Amino acid sequence: MRVLVAGASGAIGAAIAEKLSDEGDQVLTISRSGEPSSTHLVCDLTSAESADQVSRFLAERGPVDAVFCCTGILHGGWNMPEKSLSQLTAEWLQQNMLVNVQTHIHLAQAVAPQVTRTAPIKWVSLSAMVGSIEDNGLGGWYSYRMSKAALNMFIRNLSIEWGRKAPGSVVVAQHPGTTESALSKPFQAGIADGKLYTQAQTAERLIGVMRGLNAAQNGRLLHWDGSVIPF
Ligand SMILES: NC(=O)c1ccc[n+]([C@@H]2O[C@H](COP(=O)([O-])OP(=O)(O)OC[C@H]3O[C@@H](n4cnc5c(N)ncnc54)[C@H](OP(=O)(O)O)[C@@H]3O)[C@@H](O)[C@H]2O)c1
Repeated sequence: MRVLVAGASGAIGAAIAEKLSDEGDQVLTISRSGEPSSTHLVCDLTSAESADQVSRFLAERGPVDAVFCCTGILHGGWNMPEKSLSQLTAEWLQQNMLVNVQTHIHLAQAVAPQVTRTAPIKWVSLSAMVGSIEDNGLGGWYSYRMSKAALNMFIRNLSIEWGRKAPGSVVVAQHPGTTESALSKPFQAGIADGKLYTQAQTAERLIGVMRGLNAAQNGRLLHWDGSVIPF
């Protein structure tokens, strides 16, 4: 398969790209960092120009069979996930929406021209279980939860549009499971034994699910094992 991985310098994105390569897939990567090459585009998917940049990069390389969008943010600088309403700010909410939603939108807009009746696609956007409204019994983490819920709605919409124009396409949001990374680091102490997964474990699982994606999963939020999480 030819697979596009965005957010490829991140913990999970890098592990997915490496594993796909090991399995013999042709891998194209996008990241804000790294050296540009025939298979790597240096691009910030938050920028308005990014959709055109990615579009040009892909046009020269032909359609991809699958996409992993691994971009996301949970904390940064002085900002940690909110514990209460009083900590919720417009700036941090907007930053979450930009990185957790808009990057996926720009990437989809760039890939869209390649998604056709004869070239359906498998699309996996890394989301999070805490973006499930149904599953939210704890509260807190306002900006992250709201932005992931918005991402989930984007994915449902995209699955409907691409399902119509390119039947056979499967578009999902997926919770990767709590995985060792800079993003999860401040919260690892509270994780139950055996529930913090290595990047390699997560990559293997997500790639396995991607290869087996089926029509019943289209437009869903999936757990790392492929089971459905209620929106
Ligand atoms: N790790 C977990 O336990 C966990 C749990 C649930 C969900 N997730 C989700 O899984 C995805 C990957 O997480 P991860 O653990 O691999 O995190 P990570 O190592 O922090 O990687 C996230 C990547 O997102 C991109 N990104 C971050 N901030 C950005 C910004 N301001 N502008 C543009 N791009 C930015 C970067 O990609 P480039 O540097 O390559 O551009 C970054 O490497 C995220 O969507 C996260 O929400 C992770």
